[in-house]
Amino acid sequence: MTKKLHISDDLSLPLDAATQTIAVVARKGAGKTYAASKLVEELLGHGVQTVVMDTVGNWYGLRIAANGKDRGFDIPVLGGLRGDVPLTPESGALIADLVVDTGRSFVIDLSQFSLGARKKFATSFGEQLWKRKKGEAEPSAVHVVLEECQLIIPQFVGRDDARMVGIWEEIVRLGRNYGIGVTMITQRPQSVNKEVLTQTECLLVLQVNGVPERKALKEWIVHQGADVDLLNELPSLPVGTAYLWSPQWLRTFERIRIAKKTTLDASATPKVGERRVKVELKPLDLGELKARMEQVTAAAEQNDPTALHRRIRQLEAELKKPTAVAKPEVKEVPIITESDHRTLRELFEAARADFDKVAAKVESLATVLRELGTQVPRPAPMAAPPRGFTTPTRPARPTVVQVERNGEVSEYGLLLLRTVAARHPMKLTRAQISTLSGRSPRSSAFTGAMAEIIKGGFLAQVGGGLHELTETGLAAAGGPAAPPSSGEVIDQWRNALPGYERLLFDVLVDAYPKALTRPELAERSNKSITSSAFTAAISTLAKNGLAEVASGEVRASADLFLSGAA
Ligand SMILES: Nc1ncnc2c1ncn2[C@@H]1O[C@H](COP(=O)(O)OP(=O)(O)OP(=O)(O)O)[C@@H](O)[C@H]1O
Ligand SMILES: [Mg+2]
Repeated sequence: MTKKLHISDDLSLPLDAATQTIAVVARKGAGKTYAASKLVEELLGHGVQTVVMDTVGNWYGLRIAANGKDRGFDIPVLGGLRGDVPLTPESGALIADLVVDTGRSFVIDLSQFSLGARKKFATSFGEQLWKRKKGEAEPSAVHVVLEECQLIIPQFVGRDDARMVGIWEEIVRLGRNYGIGVTMITQRPQSVNKEVLTQTECLLVLQVNGVPERKALKEWIVHQGADVDLLNELPSLPVGTAYLWSPQWLRTFERIRIAKKTTLDASATPKVGERRVKVELKPLDLGELKARMEQVTAAAEQNDPTALHRRIRQLEAELKKPTAVAKPEVKEVPIITESDHRTLRELFEAARADFDKVAAKVESLATVLRELGTQVPRPAPMAAPPRGFTTPTRPARPTVVQVERNGEVSEYGLLLLRTVAARHPMKLTRAQISTLSGRSPRSSAFTGAMAEIIKGGFLAQVGGGLHELTETGLAAAGGPAAPPSSGEVIDQWRNALPGYERLLFDVLVDAYPKALTRPELAERSNKSITSSAFTAAISTLAKNGLAEVASGEVRASADLFLSGAA
């Protein structure tokens, strides 16, 4: 009988999955970790060396049987809250040596590391693993699982990520030649380095409903020359059901139900009111491994330059300290004297009297002017300082109305005229003009340009808040134009919106014409409904005419899909 990895009753993978690259993608809670750990159970069951880089901290479940009591696999857990031995950020290279020297499987729990510590570990572990495996004359298979892999191979490579991303990219791309296979788990395929994701031989995708996520998957599917139609089914997949795509390696495309795990489902979402049983790992007989791990930890601490510097600074500080520190005597000295107080009060009273006099004069002057029929504005209240995000017109935002002239219209004015001309003879509201032109209705540049084209006789206000192009306006715009597609309008706004707003916008556009309740919107965008950022982002979208909020529901603005739009 050939050896197979039974990850599902519907489908088994050949054992050479051990050295393949697999991506497991799904929204939060759809069963990524479950599916990947089913695969790992099968690999371990077939004696394949497997190393899990656990950034989340729930892979210790492999050690315990599904009933929560019996033993699972004898796989040491390094680091984390339940680790058999502690792990230091400096020990990446030493752990890689341990992996290669012993040929054993490990869960490397990075969940308790800071961001910097995790990067440090992942970089040196990856570099050493790569070096060692490349040096093996006949490399044995090792399968590496990267939980939340966008943390290790992000699409956006910051200055201090370059080494980490570089080495892991190489491992994913070329690892097969040296016996290394990789499973990458992510809920955000768009945040995973594209160079790496496209290398994936096999995509296991469970429920996915975000627009950016599906767009990233589409890129992979197109890259593999596969059929993209089934992307539409992804949002409705039940938890634990997946599509397995492997156009080249397995030449398979199948809908499968992931089989039940034999080990503890440690990532199960706690139910409200349910008390979680505290899980402790039974001690594992690490034998000589334990001694090696202790050496590892000690050596790491000794060799860590940061730790050494810290120690030197500590010693220096101790040397400088006087043996008995005298308690400083605190004596209060008044900085402003009694007579200063008096002078200040007198000055203040005098200034206030002057101010009252001037204010009274201004008010009586205003009354006289009003009686004469002159429009005098009420004094404006102090504008509140702007809070948070201002206006999303980043790509080509003019700070002032453009002065470059085209006939008698400014460039900004012309843009608005062309926007209206593209829908001519439709009459548009101010909000619609702003939405369709991709400009914020609240910016002073927009207000200025609207005033300019109305005053200049290019745009007429025709009642009901609607505007229509005049003959002159139509001529200045160069006649009726082909309207941009709603896709173009939407893309223009997407590019202008900051990340958070963009995410909600995508979800709303995707759901259109359906309105979403706030909980639905929060869930689909993976955001917390109670956070102030969530409320603020909805209000920003509404203020910019991109979303309509009514009776507790939010919907993408119909203006984005105005007629003529494709
Ligand atoms: N194939 C399955 N069979 C039975 N239950 C499943 C299956 N897949 C997932 N579940 C249930 O759903 C829960 C969530 O799954 P899992 O932890 O794998 O989700 P996830 O996609 O990794 O989520 P997160 O993004 O939060 O890490 C599991 O703990 C399990 O209880
Ligand atoms: Mg998970």
